[in-house]
Amino acid sequence: MHASAARLLAGLSPDPGPLRIGGIAADDLAARFGTPLFVYDAGIARARLAAVRAAFGDRVQVLYALKANPCVRLARALREAGAGAELASAGEVVVARAAGFAGEAMQFAGPGKDEHDFEAALDAGVGTLNLESPAEYDALCRVAARRGARPGVAIRINPARPASGARVRMAGSGSKFGVDEDRVVAFAETIERDRVCTLRGVHMYAGSQAFDVDAWLAAAERAVEAARAIERALGRPLSSVGLGGGFGVPASDREPTFDVAHAGRGARDLIADAPAAQHFSIELGRWLVAECGVYLTRILYAKESAGRRHVIVDGGLHHFGAAAGLGAVIKRPYPIVACADPRAEGHEPVAGGGPLCTPADEFAAAAALPRVARGDLLAVLVAGAYGLTFSPIAFLSHPTPAEVVVDGGTALLARRRGRPEDVLRDQDFAGDGRNSIAPPGRK
Ligand SMILES: Cc1ncc(COP(=O)(O)O)c(C=O)c1O
Repeated sequence: MHASAARLLAGLSPDPGPLRIGGIAADDLAARFGTPLFVYDAGIARARLAAVRAAFGDRVQVLYALKANPCVRLARALREAGAGAELASAGEVVVARAAGFAGEAMQFAGPGKDEHDFEAALDAGVGTLNLESPAEYDALCRVAARRGARPGVAIRINPARPASGARVRMAGSGSKFGVDEDRVVAFAETIERDRVCTLRGVHMYAGSQAFDVDAWLAAAERAVEAARAIERALGRPLSSVGLGGGFGVPASDREPTFDVAHAGRGARDLIADAPAAQHFSIELGRWLVAECGVYLTRILYAKESAGRRHVIVDGGLHHFGAAAGLGAVIKRPYPIVACADPRAEGHEPVAGGGPLCTPADEFAAAAALPRVARGDLLAVLVAGAYGLTFSPIAFLSHPTPAEVVVDGGTALLARRRGRPEDVLRDQDFAGDGRNSIAPPGRK
């Protein structure tokens, strides 16, 4: 058994025997809610949040990055356990409101926020809008002028040499993200002079899947240094500094684990001399929710091809693109287990793919599964982050899967399964020309 699968099972389903999620048998969940099915154990997400809060201490607010999983029930569980929220679209503002986040506990980031996004954020009372360019600032100023509002803002800094150790880099020279480090002070002076927005601070996010803690701390230090440079120029303290996020979660044995205790110690040292009124934050998606999730999928067919066993499952890349390697340069197989006996291993490698007409729709090229057959239930682990939200759901027009949150021994439906007819939603095929533009000169 892969070490990462063994570690995950120890947290998810510690007792020997069939897979259980939050104490409920995977078989019962599949029987009640059908497959394919995402299941999230809220208790695991809460425990992850508690661990990171304990490591970083009271001065650092942990924001849940909704892009990792916009399931309202899960976001609400994290909010109730003390998390704030990081949002990046008007849709995520809707999710955050439904999950009950307070305005001051929300920050809005993302390199392409338009005026509608800003309107939605201000309607929801979002405390801090992170600016990623002077042009975006101009758009916000127009919105602020229309509304007679004075939004709170922070500048996303783009460190010139991000040493964040992130596998998915979102900073560095020539990036669409943030404002280049050497322009940040001048930009801050403009915002201060214009008096349209209140400059609260700086924010930095250098990338996802960071595994090297010292590199991550070096990037966080860049944010603190940028804040100090702005404070010197403005002659006043800033009220908030975002230290970054993106803590890595291994999906396979080839990746290390991110040492949160070490990161927390380093961050405490980094901010030890900061003014008492200054607030710090980190923004995490994957680290909080990846390990609480399981994707359940049933074997439709099993067959042999060129001497290799293949199983065709009812779920696939359209629901869980990351597990099939979407977005990864090197395909890393996610742990996959048989629900009847998740710790059992077979010696005959099994290839497992879904119903889509693309060879990319494959969860495993050679999984070490025990002997499995038609009708058996499989579980793809580490499915709580960047599952449905990072998947090409429209490809082949299959319905969306259901999502379930298990909490305190109860399984609650969090998203009903879609229907095949959903594919027609918002399509206009009536043919009466009402929504067309006629070529010039033709009536
Ligand atoms: C600005 C920002 N914050 C937070 C996150 C969450 O990253 P992760 O899920 O790796 O923690 C992302 C991910 O893309 C991001 O772009």
